[in-house]
Amino acid sequence: MTEKTEGGDVRLSGISKTYGSFTAVHPLDLTVPQGSFFALLGASGCGKTTTLRMIAGLEDPSTGTVSLGARDVTALPPHKRPVNTVFQSYALFPHLSIRENIAFGLRRRGVKSVTKQVGDMLDLVQLGDFAHRKPHQLSGGQQQRVAVARALINHPQVLLLDEPLGALDLKLRRQMQLELKRIQTEVGITFVHVTHDQEEAMTMADTVAVMNGGRVEQLGAPAELYENPRTTFVANFLGTSNLIEAEVVDSSGDEVVVTASGGKLRLPADRCPDAVRAGGRLLVGVRPEKISLTAADEADSVAPGRNAVTGRIVDSSFIGVSTQYVVESPAGRAIEVYAQNVEHRAGLVPGAEVVLHWNPEHTFGLDAAQDITAGVETVEETP
Ligand SMILES: Nc1ncnc2c1ncn2[C@@H]1O[C@H](COP(=O)(O)OP(=O)(O)O)[C@@H](O)[C@H]1O
Ligand SMILES: [Mg+2]
Repeated sequence: MTEKTEGGDVRLSGISKTYGSFTAVHPLDLTVPQGSFFALLGASGCGKTTTLRMIAGLEDPSTGTVSLGARDVTALPPHKRPVNTVFQSYALFPHLSIRENIAFGLRRRGVKSVTKQVGDMLDLVQLGDFAHRKPHQLSGGQQQRVAVARALINHPQVLLLDEPLGALDLKLRRQMQLELKRIQTEVGITFVHVTHDQEEAMTMADTVAVMNGGRVEQLGAPAELYENPRTTFVANFLGTSNLIEAEVVDSSGDEVVVTASGGKLRLPADRCPDAVRAGGRLLVGVRPEKISLTAADEADSVAPGRNAVTGRIVDSSFIGVSTQYVVESPAGRAIEVYAQNVEHRAGLVPGAEVVLHWNPEHTFGLDAAQDITAGVETVEETP
């Protein structure tokens, strides 16, 4: 299918939802560009489904408006909005064949000849050979592809997906992430995808909005969010971050200089919050894969100019492609280091004294007046 719909951008203006005295979604402004794959990411209960349901018209917003393209649809009932939703439970019709499940929307609208469109959809989701089967004769992933085809055949301007892969096991979920991404690229329709799985959001989406407690904390391309988190929640929720409490000693140049447990660290000024000043505090962040480990007795081999702190390995786990170390350091709590398994490093075992070092450019700064553990170990429950 190559047909592209126009005006499929989604605009939320000041949209919010309260239930009694509880605010599920705080006033939110958001634009999802036409044709993009957009993910709403956050832990269970943060307001993702509520936001999606307001776009679909299944939930009345307490304040604000929803527009699709140039059209304000806030007052339209769900079936009059040019959107379709795919849920975690595919809700296929069990007694109908795959072909008839996909044709359902067209038949309901009285479309007579459905063969070509259904054929195109079967091709799109690569289920042509299964057209005559019943849903129970398909795997979970295949059933979910039928659900996607059944929604897309209506040519919605926007496809909403609420944790559509939540019921699938990990390997199948990974496959389906790529598959859904391919389908979205092929049809060019705006996808708004809700998930609590940060890897899923990063794999699939052009833009990710990270939600926390009914608010969007940060919005951006996956790599941008990962490399430049602006809050401790985003830093910890999206992958793992080492956050080190530090005091600013110089903020006058292109690099900010801080001290952490006596040692100096440097980081780019443009990766720090605006209000950084000498004497103030800062959280210094570095991702585990950016850090190298060197045995303390070889510390001389560490190139000058790198940020370095000392520590002692307290744990190491070999996980195939990498080894993950936990290092205790006066500079921070347990610092995590991911080292690619390029060569065997005999001395790097629990108990070993080490130097942790990294390129100052791979360091980001966060406002120290935040909970340093926000977003850590969020329980991943499937709603
Ligand atoms: N109909 C409702 N009445 C009261 N509270 C609700 C209702 N629907 C959702 N909530 C609450 O709003 C919050 C956000 O819910 P939801 O949008 O489903 O979160 P998510 O999809 O991110 O898990 C939750 O705390 C939930 O309990
Ligand atoms: Mg939900």
